[in-house]
Amino acid sequence: MQENAYLKCIDVECGLVYPISTTRVECEKGHLLDVKYKERPSESLKEKFLSRRNPEGSIFNESGVWRFRELLNFCQIDTEDLEECARFLVSLDGAEGRQSKPYHMSKVADFVKISHDGLWLQPEGYNPSGSFKDNGMAAAVTHAKLVNAKRIVCASTGNTSASAGMYAANEGIECDVYIPSGQIAPGKLSQAYQFGAQIIEVDGNFDDALAKSLNEAKQSNGYTVNSVNPFRIEGQKTIPYRSFEYLDWEAPDWIVYPGGALGNTSSCGKAIIELHQWGWIKKIPRIAVINAAGASTLSDLFNGKFNDEKLHWNKGKPNEELIKKYYADLDKKGIRPKTKATAIQIGRPANILKALRALEFTNGIVTTVSDNEMLDGMAVVGLNGFDCEMASGAVPAGIKKLVAEEIIKKDDVVIGILTGRQKDAMLPVDYHNNPQNRFAIPPKN
Ligand code: F0G
Repeated sequence: MQENAYLKCIDVECGLVYPISTTRVECEKGHLLDVKYKERPSESLKEKFLSRRNPEGSIFNESGVWRFRELLNFCQIDTEDLEECARFLVSLDGAEGRQSKPYHMSKVADFVKISHDGLWLQPEGYNPSGSFKDNGMAAAVTHAKLVNAKRIVCASTGNTSASAGMYAANEGIECDVYIPSGQIAPGKLSQAYQFGAQIIEVDGNFDDALAKSLNEAKQSNGYTVNSVNPFRIEGQKTIPYRSFEYLDWEAPDWIVYPGGALGNTSSCGKAIIELHQWGWIKKIPRIAVINAAGASTLSDLFNGKFNDEKLHWNKGKPNEELIKKYYADLDKKGIRPKTKATAIQIGRPANILKALRALEFTNGIVTTVSDNEMLDGMAVVGLNGFDCEMASGAVPAGIKKLVAEEIIKKDDVVIGILTGRQKDAMLPVDYHNNPQNRFAIPPKN
């Protein structure tokens, strides 16, 4: 094996490095880690990725994650050797990312007031466990297998646990999931049970569950698969790869995500930084992150709504004290994140620093939307024949707001990521039974 891949601390002054075989999610000084590659991949791979869309019997070509395996080859395998792929790469029979690509949705375009041709939405809810998490989880569980982990551990608002449970069951390893009791969608909870995960109910919110699960994993040698795991980020890079490939590697003007723990923002940023460094894309798309108004840590800090100071990456010197003060202030005032979009009901986004780096590189922005705006966003996606959950509804809602504010221009090309499918069956029923809602079609009798 060559030593092309390694881990490096994201703090520019610290920069500690570790071999791929480490299971740590932070350096010894507590900073998050990046997977780094020494070699620059050849641009001729674009042709190869395209040709793999005719998979010729290989699940690793069928998989929307492993189709791009040369760009996340942290296992350092011969990517053309399919037997080696089968030994190392974890896949649910090629299903992760397989159905994901950008689509035009005319009713959403009318709603947000962008031209029909300019708006693309990429449903990640059609992944095997129903959310974008399968992109990252395929990669994280591949690393877990590489290091011989017997038990994976996560905290979750429901989608991470569904995805972790699914891959763990498929690979025959154990899975512990820490969930904020009573705060996750019933369809997500049932998936964790169905896949045989061990559920640990935490009396608190997602932030409490994450703190507990990280601590437990450290104490008992569990392997953490939350998005602080750098290999999750590698897998999730394939979300923008698929978008850009579909546009012939012409980057859009904007790529829009809901913001929770900010793994997506981080992975999209890392993908863009790398693609730009390799010369694969010339233009740098701007990332827009949409927070729920009731869980708006990134928006508050980034936009200078706390202590009148804007928290930015600042070329690798972000004011981390400001984050600590913000959290202390929330605790002092007893403010807890609150939104009906439980997937993104997160107050302490674990990847905030990586997200700031992504926002700086892409000249990105952050905004918030209300619960009602998210529900309208979710409903209008449905009227185009696509399914998404409420947190994903933040994407059309956020684009609409940014177009109205003339930050996104009407003729911009925008890709929005619809992160998960509906797993709270009563939400659309309740929405449509209330005639006050903008897109409601109440039942007749
Ligand atoms: N959308 C959905 C559907 C999610 O499930 C999540 C996060 C997000 C958006 C936020 O993404 O963390 O990358 O900013 N869900 C996690 C979970 C926290 O446990 O399933 P992010």
